[in-house]
Amino acid sequence: MPSFKLDGKTIPFEPGDSIIHAADRQGIEIPHYCWHPGLSAPANCRMCLVEILPAPNQRPIMLDILHWDAAAGAYKPVQKPKLQPACQMGAVDGMEVKAETSPHVKDARKTVQESLLLNHPVDCPICDQAGECKLQDYWLEYQKTPKRMRDEPVHKPKGVVFGPTIVYDAERCVMCTRCIRFMEEDAKDPVLDMRERGNLNEIMVAPGRQLDGHYTFMTEHVCPVGALTTVDFRFKARVWFLKSVPSICQGCATGCNAHLDYDPRNNRVYRYRPRDNEKVNKYWMCDEGMLTHHRAHEGRVLETTVSGRVASQASALETVKKLFEGAPKESIAVVLSAQHSLEDNWAMRELATAFLGTTSFFVAGMAEGYEDRILIHKDKNPNTAGVKELCAGARPFTELLTEIAAGRVTHALALGSRTPPIDPKDLATLQSLRGLVAIAVDEGPLVDAAQVVLPATSWAESAGTYVNAKGLRQQAERAIHPLGSARPAWEQVIHVARALGFEMGLSKLREIRAKLLVSDVAAPAPASTPMTTTP
Ligand code: SF4
Ligand code: SF4
Ligand code: FES
Repeated sequence: MPSFKLDGKTIPFEPGDSIIHAADRQGIEIPHYCWHPGLSAPANCRMCLVEILPAPNQRPIMLDILHWDAAAGAYKPVQKPKLQPACQMGAVDGMEVKAETSPHVKDARKTVQESLLLNHPVDCPICDQAGECKLQDYWLEYQKTPKRMRDEPVHKPKGVVFGPTIVYDAERCVMCTRCIRFMEEDAKDPVLDMRERGNLNEIMVAPGRQLDGHYTFMTEHVCPVGALTTVDFRFKARVWFLKSVPSICQGCATGCNAHLDYDPRNNRVYRYRPRDNEKVNKYWMCDEGMLTHHRAHEGRVLETTVSGRVASQASALETVKKLFEGAPKESIAVVLSAQHSLEDNWAMRELATAFLGTTSFFVAGMAEGYEDRILIHKDKNPNTAGVKELCAGARPFTELLTEIAAGRVTHALALGSRTPPIDPKDLATLQSLRGLVAIAVDEGPLVDAAQVVLPATSWAESAGTYVNAKGLRQQAERAIHPLGSARPAWEQVIHVARALGFEMGLSKLREIRAKLLVSDVAAPAPASTPMTTTP
């Protein structure tokens, strides 16, 4: 593999890599604003300048400059090497690059920082990016000097509503053009551009348009400073209070890798951010997916109920026993869920096949929806492929209604979270069951019709494995503690089994995982992944 030296360290690179990308692969950050591994490189911020040493027999490129001599109180003509943007210079085998070890580079970084902050409002205390802002980080690392300019800074538009999801603050913008390039290159909707020149520059939305579509949140995500904020997260939390776990988006079968950010102080989930995975979602997520973090708290089933009334777990399980007493196994249906993890579905299938002896399986989940050729899958469930893996013969939820109406199914055990919407006639069909037990995360028809509802933890409250549309097994880690009386669905299944007189011999998630032979599950990134919105 070809390599070059960066500050004396050997950096291997792949053909076509820029210096910054090769260094980034080795975990070495060359400071940058405009560069992003998923976007083209305009080299307009100049923060990544490095000194490339001339090869033997090559003349160095030198620049004539005026240097302020404080002792003499005058500028003196001197020469310095011409620095190069590491984001645009391709790596060359054997080249020698100086960054941290070059006084010229250090000086350049400091100067670029000072120039970017010249007209910046420095309103960090009220800025949502504070704590994960490149301007803050690089000021501390490379500048550390107070503002020298005494003039009134240039004022620009603030709180500009770009569309239903994004608000723009031109005074905080460093004109890196990442947002423009993301919309053009990845969202395929070139709706943003830059207008004016010099310190009057600002980002604008194309006349007659607003920033909308399915990938607007990504403009905020790629923005290295607090110039773009999402209506969803704006003024909701200070990021230094948030913790993060590696998670899997619940929005569709693509299974985008994500960081789920939550505040342990109030046990609340606040946002989703993309987690880089070249094989699944590269660096991106869609708006609908990023908003699925709300499902951790909205529309939840948090209490155990019997016939619609809050009940204790013991009395609910006693009712389960009575409801299923004497029910012939041929008339018991089991509903798996494409919304639930592999572990939850495995426990349900195990109870059905190994103990109840039923083979009547159905699968519930959300109805199909919008799809595109970028990320979004028409299957709006994170684990349809997982359910198919466990139970290839599971029939669609609508067929359950037919079976009930025909009298062939009289009892059902259901992972009852999220189904396609059903009409009142179908709800009445579900209600006609002599026994319906729903282990559910969210409200929905199965919960409305069930005699017994056992609340289940959401993906945010319990770890789980999800199989995406490409058949990739991926794990989501637990973020918050269980809400209300919710318990992991697999645990509720074990309780139901016990109420029905079966001992499944399981009590831990790892025991189910061992049964599932999920040792090949893609290991998530470490939970301590640094809290940053942009690479
Ligand atoms: S809004 Fe953000 S991403 Fe867009 S140009 Fe300004 S600083 Fe860059
Ligand atoms: S494409 Fe699907 S998995 Fe990815 S963020 Fe969007 S909804 Fe979530
Ligand atoms: S990161 Fe290289 S010029 Fe901006």
